[in-house]
This record gives sequence, C-alpha cells and structure tokens, in this order.
Amino acid sequence: MNRSLLILFLALSAASFVSGCRGEISEEPPVVPLRNMYHQARYDPHEESEFFEDGRTMRPQVEGTLSREMEVNETFTTGRTADNAQWILEVPSEIVDRNGGAEDFVARGQERYNIYCAPCHGVAGDSEGLVSDRAANLGFAALRPPSFHEDRIRSMPDGQLYATISNGIRNMPAYRHNIPQDDRWAIALYVRALQVSQASRTDAMNMPSAAEAEVQQ
Ligand code: HEC
Repeated sequence: MNRSLLILFLALSAASFVSGCRGEISEEPPVVPLRNMYHQARYDPHEESEFFEDGRTMRPQVEGTLSREMEVNETFTTGRTADNAQWILEVPSEIVDRNGGAEDFVARGQERYNIYCAPCHGVAGDSEGLVSDRAANLGFAALRPPSFHEDRIRSMPDGQLYATISNGIRNMPAYRHNIPQDDRWAIALYVRALQVSQASRTDAMNMPSAAEAEVQQ
C-alpha cells in the first residue's frame, strides 16, 4: 500500500467514525469533546443534601424575612389590634389616606365588591346573588350567605369583616390570594357603606329581592 492510499484510507475511516452514528438511537450520553460548562454539579428540587444539617437542599426562609412589598404593620394584615387581643373597629385611616381618601377608596371598594362579592352576597348585600340563588334552587340553601343587614354583621368590627374576606369562614372561601390587601380593606369599607344605606329599613333582614319587590308593586 503506498503512502497516499494509506492517508486516503485513514481519512475515510475517520469520516465514517464521525458520521457513523448519525441518526442512530443510543442510550449513551452524547459525545461532547469540549465539556466546558456543559455539566455542572447542582441540586435537584427536594434533593437530599449532606451540606446542611437538616439534610434539605431547599432552604426555608430565614425567620422574620420580609419582602420589600410586604406590609410590615400586622394590624393592617390581620385586622387585629397590635396586642392581638381584639379586632380593630375601623378601617385604618392610614390605609384610606394612602389610597386617595375616603371617597376614592369607597368607590374602589364598590367596584371590587361588585366583582368579588356580589355573585354570592348580591349587589345590595342582601344575599340575593346569582350564585346563592342557584345554590338555593339546587337544594343547597345552606350555602346562601347571611344578609349584611343582619344586626350581627352590622355590628361586626371592620377588622373582622376584613379578616372574613382574607381567610373565608365556614362555607365561604378565602379571598386573600385573589384580592390584594388594600382592596380587601376597601371592600370592608364599602360593605359598611352598604349597611348604612339600608339602615333605615326596619325590615332590612327580610328584605325582598329586587325581583320580588317589583312583583309586589
Ligand atoms: C362563593 C360565594 C361567596 C363569595 C364570592 C363571597 N362570600 Fe361571603 N359568604 C358566603 C357564604 C356561603 C357565607 C356563609 C358562610 C357560613 O356561615 O357557612 C358567607 C359569609 C360572609 C360573611 C359573614 C361571616 C360571619 O361571621 O357569619 C361576611 C361578612 C362575608 N361573607 C363577606 C364577604 C365579602 C366582603 C365578600 C367579597 C370579598 C364575600 N363575602 C364573597 C359566600 C360567599
């Protein structure tokens, strides 16, 4: 074999070595001649770690950590007094002020109320919402919420009203994840306005729905 033939042979076998595996399926990891940063040591979520004492790779938040956006005033987040002894009686004025004053804040509350609460509690807060009507028609009358014009809810402190929206209660789901904190306060303020608007009615507790009222006329 002369020399040029040998070189040709070597070149051909090298070419077939490189292209030989193309299109074939292999269980082996791909050949990566220059590894650079292709493979780096890392933890998978929930993987065990020997580095930390508790054996977890996913680190819990350092106690007391707050994000910049988080409310630092616990009264504003919980609706409770600073000593956690009772509900605060009124929507904190600082929250009203930082949202443009009472008029704007009630208007915001009305808008949010009509989106989030009216389907169950009714636009007038008399529990004549479409969802509760439907529940009642299907035989689940227990899912009808109470009217906001009952004495018990009229005399509920604002903080408790706010907390009911945040945490839900019995058959009512929590809305803390759907409605931002200040909007929950705005809704609480608007519910108060609704209650005042109906307060002159002695029969407020048994108020007929709008449809019934029309029929009666
Ligand atoms: C999916 C329907 C639904 C929505 C939406 C809803 N509620 Fe309710 N709500 C209920 C039901 C049902 C109850 C009665 C819960 C029970 O006693 O089991 C209730 C009860 C309440 C009560 C009385 C709590 C008590 O102490 O008895 C308040 C106050 C209240 N809701 C406020 C609101 C406000 C404000 C919103 C809007 C952010 C809202 N709810 C949205 C269904 C709803």
